[in-house]
Amino acid sequence: MKSCEGKNNSIGIFDSGLGGLTVWREMQAAMPHEHFVYVADSKYAPYGNKDSEMVLQRSLCIAETLAQTHQIKALVVACNTATAAAVHHLRETLDIPVIGMEPALKPAVEQSESGIVGILATENTLQSDKFSNLLDAHQHQARILTQPCVGLVEAVEQGELHSRKTKDLLASYVLPLMDEGVDTLVLGCTHYPWFEPIIRELVGDDIAIISTGKAVAKQVQKQTQKQIQPQSKTHKTNKQGQTMFYTTGDAGQVSQLASSLLQSNIVFQSFSTQHSEP
Ligand code: DGL
Repeated sequence: MKSCEGKNNSIGIFDSGLGGLTVWREMQAAMPHEHFVYVADSKYAPYGNKDSEMVLQRSLCIAETLAQTHQIKALVVACNTATAAAVHHLRETLDIPVIGMEPALKPAVEQSESGIVGILATENTLQSDKFSNLLDAHQHQARILTQPCVGLVEAVEQGELHSRKTKDLLASYVLPLMDEGVDTLVLGCTHYPWFEPIIRELVGDDIAIISTGKAVAKQVQKQTQKQIQPQSKTHKTNKQGQTMFYTTGDAGQVSQLASSLLQSNIVFQSFSTQHSEP
């Protein structure tokens, strides 16, 4: 699959749902003049407990539609689970920069004073070869405790961020890590930054909570600037960039949830992929 001639200037982003918005908001803050096309694959969320072949097929399908219909200039896989399952294939298939997510283990082990680091992620991310390589690269530097967090993505997608059930679930994942002496907590799923205020309440002020959105935004900025440098003089503009939001789920419901998460009026449209769905 090669993207079409006459590329427009948007950066494509996708996630299983509304987690990628935590990455999008960092990108938008870092690159306010860029245009974005965001796809929430809400119909298939969560990805974290699905067969990784299915996650791969969904990722390819969305990427192909974004490349061909929206002629994006770069693709951000704003999902750790989809990155683990598909980023290599996407890089082989697309002729634009593809930027993925990776749990921020490196900065976490570097800054941990207790030498004990906790990581919260989906089952699929933690079971992936990609993650196991990352773990191998860092586990001589710190004791790394992994915690699969079943149910947290669903809580975001169902608008249950602040329910008692969700708070209890979070406590059951986070507090045992604190008992083990963790002083640095990695949020290894893009949905989890939505819980940061609740996690902060649970762990107190002395624990570092690290997510990847800002680092990825910087990386995207670097890659896209490099890519468009020859044209940048002619395309320079001070206008605010626009974002188009799409979902494979119920657009009304997703708009409502996203608006409440971002405290702003966000309107999603229906997204249909070019090929038959898995
Ligand atoms: N935001 C995705 C991630 O970073 C969530 C995966 C899921 O849908 O379970 O892994």
